Amino acid sequence: MTHRATLIRGDGIGPEIMEATLRVMAAAGASFEWDEQLGGVAALNDAGTPLPDATVESIRHTGLALKGPLTTPVGTGFRSVNVALRREFDLYANVRPTTSIVPGGRYDGVDIVLVRENTEGLYVGFEAHIPVDGDPKAVAQSLAVVTRHGCERIVRYAFEYALTNGRRKVTIVHKANILKAVSGLFLEVGRDVSRGYEGRVAVDDMIIDACAMKLVLDPSQFDVIVTTNMFGDILSDEIAGLVGGLGLAPGGNIGQRAAIFEAVHGSAPDIAGRGIANPSALILAAAMMLDHVGEAPRAGRMREALAHTIRTDGIRTKDLGGHATTMEFADAVTQRLA
Ligand code: NAI
Ligand code: MG
Repeated sequence: MTHRATLIRGDGIGPEIMEATLRVMAAAGASFEWDEQLGGVAALNDAGTPLPDATVESIRHTGLALKGPLTTPVGTGFRSVNVALRREFDLYANVRPTTSIVPGGRYDGVDIVLVRENTEGLYVGFEAHIPVDGDPKAVAQSLAVVTRHGCERIVRYAFEYALTNGRRKVTIVHKANILKAVSGLFLEVGRDVSRGYEGRVAVDDMIIDACAMKLVLDPSQFDVIVTTNMFGDILSDEIAGLVGGLGLAPGGNIGQRAAIFEAVHGSAPDIAGRGIANPSALILAAAMMLDHVGEAPRAGRMREALAHTIRTDGIRTKDLGGHATTMEFADAVTQRLA
C-alpha cells in the first residue's frame, strides 16, 4: 500500500541522514508518496519564514510527516519550529523507544519506551521577569500548567501503547511530594486511568529524582514510563545515554490529527556536510512511522537489519566508534534487507 506523507529534509546533517533513510525505506519495500516541504533555516533562506504555510498545510493534509532536524538559533531569532509544529497539531504524545543495539555499551538489555507529555507543564512558556529596585531581572518566574484533560490523554496513551505493543508495566513518574498541584494532579489522574487497565497492564509510580537514579543503577526494571513535559525531556536524554547516545534515539510526536516522526538529536552543525553522521536515529524514526501506518512487519525488518549491521557486521559510523560514512552505513543496512 502507498502512503501519503510530508517530507522535510531539515538543516545541518538533515539532508544527509534523510537521503540514507529514504534509501533504507525503499530497500524495505516501503511505499510512500512524499510531499516534500521546507522547514527551519532552509525554509527561512528560501521562503523568508522558518515554518511556511505550505508546510503546515501539507501536514494538515497528509496527517503524517518524516522530518529531519531543524536548526533553532539560541537566545535570539525565531522560536523553535519543532515546538510550533507540536502546538499547531496538538501533538501531545512524545514517544521515545530506546533499546540496546551496540554490544558492550553502558548497558545491554535496555528496552524502555518513554511517553512524554508534549504540550503542557513548565514548557508552556508563561515566563516573566519582575523588576525590583531598578533591577529589571531581580526575579524570574515560570508558570507550569497541566490540565486534567492533558494528564488523562497522555496516561491513557501510555497504557494503550503498552497494550498494543505487548508491554507489561507503566511507571508514572512525578514530583507530587513537592509540586502538589501540578505533579499531584498528574499522579492522581494517572492512578485513576491505570485502574481501567487492571489485570492487563501493571502500574507503579516513582518520584522523578529516584527514577533518574534507578535508571542508571538498573534500567531493566523499567518498561513504559509516562511523565510530564520537562521530566520527560530530561529522562529521555538520560535513557538515550544508557545505550550509546543520541545517534540511536528516534521519536514520534503524535496527536489526534497528525503524527511527526524524527530523530531526537539536532542538526549537528559541527559535522554537517561531511557525510559522517549516523542515520540510525532517523531510520528508526521511519520504522516508528511504518508501525504507525500499520506496517509493523516492514518496520521490524528495518530495525533488525539496522541492529545486525551494527552488531553482527560491525559496521558503524564514527559516533559509535566505527569509520563508515553515512551512505556506507545505509548501503550496509540496505544489503541486509535484500
Ligand atoms: P545536536 O543533537 O545537533 O548535536 C549534539 C552533538 O551530537 C554534536 O556533537 C553532534 O555532532 C552529535 N550528533 C547529533 N546527531 C548526530 C548523528 N546523527 N550522528 C553523529 N553525531 C551526532 O544538538 P545541538 O548541537 O545542541 O543542536 C544543534 C541544532 O539542532 C540547534 O539549532 C538545535 O536547536 C537543533 N535541534 C533540533 C532538534 C529537532 O529538530 N528535533 C532537536 C534538538 C536540537
Ligand atoms: Mg530535549
